[in-house]
Amino acid sequence: MKIKSLLAAGVTLAMLAGCGSSTPASDGAAEQPAEEGGEAAAEAKTYNVGVAIYQFDDNFMTLYRNEIEAYFKTKETDTVKYNVTIVDGKNDMAEQSNQVDNFITQGMDVIILNLVQTSSADAIIDKVVGAGIPLVLINREPLGTDGDESYAGILDNATVCYVGADARQSGTYQGEIIAELPDHGDINGDGKVSYVMIEGDPENIDAQYRTEFSIKALEDAGIEVECLDDQVGNWAQAKGQEIAANALTQYGDKVEVIFCNNDAMALGAAASITAANRTVGEDIYLVGVDALEECVEMVNNGTMTGTVLNDANGQAHKAVDVAIELLEGKSIQNYYWVDYVKVVKE
Ligand code: BGC
Repeated sequence: MKIKSLLAAGVTLAMLAGCGSSTPASDGAAEQPAEEGGEAAAEAKTYNVGVAIYQFDDNFMTLYRNEIEAYFKTKETDTVKYNVTIVDGKNDMAEQSNQVDNFITQGMDVIILNLVQTSSADAIIDKVVGAGIPLVLINREPLGTDGDESYAGILDNATVCYVGADARQSGTYQGEIIAELPDHGDINGDGKVSYVMIEGDPENIDAQYRTEFSIKALEDAGIEVECLDDQVGNWAQAKGQEIAANALTQYGDKVEVIFCNNDAMALGAAASITAANRTVGEDIYLVGVDALEECVEMVNNGTMTGTVLNDANGQAHKAVDVAIELLEGKSIQNYYWVDYVKVVKE
């Protein structure tokens, strides 16, 4: 009940305050019919939060952005409200750049940004910082970063940070999932693991690291590898399906493992594996990253060999918590890392 009335108050205040205003919404609230808690709500401050997502049509980022919105709601109190605006960059950097310009014009109090292109990080960070707006970068780590080292000094800024997961860890877990199988991925016993790699957006460090570190984990375990095919599927299910179908036609039984940089593409690959009359766990292995609900089910019923939890909720919560700290003028770290978790059948 309490939550309900808070939410109702939040919506009203957000509407009254309008975009770009972070002033107390006392005037409008006073016009509301008197109700329980109305007095406290009259003093509420509304913060305007701009969230720019690289593309709504992305399974993982959909979970992520929904959680950002839901978690901001849980952070509202009688005196603090968050007016959250989420926009779709449609995988177009020019479009996203305009959206950030609009956020600046609208006077957002904080911006959470999932870049379309990390190569544009400097330019975008510069303009947001120049406008005096704190910035939380998420999901796509600006290129050039290495662990805790700052990105060309830009993330040294007191009001800019990155919240993400270290993609090297997810790649390593994928490789380990295969290395830890009884046959170590060498189904046909020819002494090497012959694999197909289906990559995400090649500019994205997640794609680069997952591709590199999954294979490195096999090699580090002393396993010989052979790359049959390595193609870009841009994180998309349909592309994953197409690439896997072509590779299975071309290389047939030689394909022992299909590595996908994310679960969406693994879902596509799984469909092609079935269509090619192959059976995961018997004559082929399949791994992804994200631990989408449907993929965790597949791992449990054996139609996927394993996946790696990319903690959308954990990252969304961290991003929101840090955004709120920035709004409160608290000092922050420049990097926040959320762990990946290996997911295999129990
Ligand atoms: C996720 C992918 C997603 C990508 C978007 C990655 O961390 O694993 O599923 O498509 O982020 O940038």
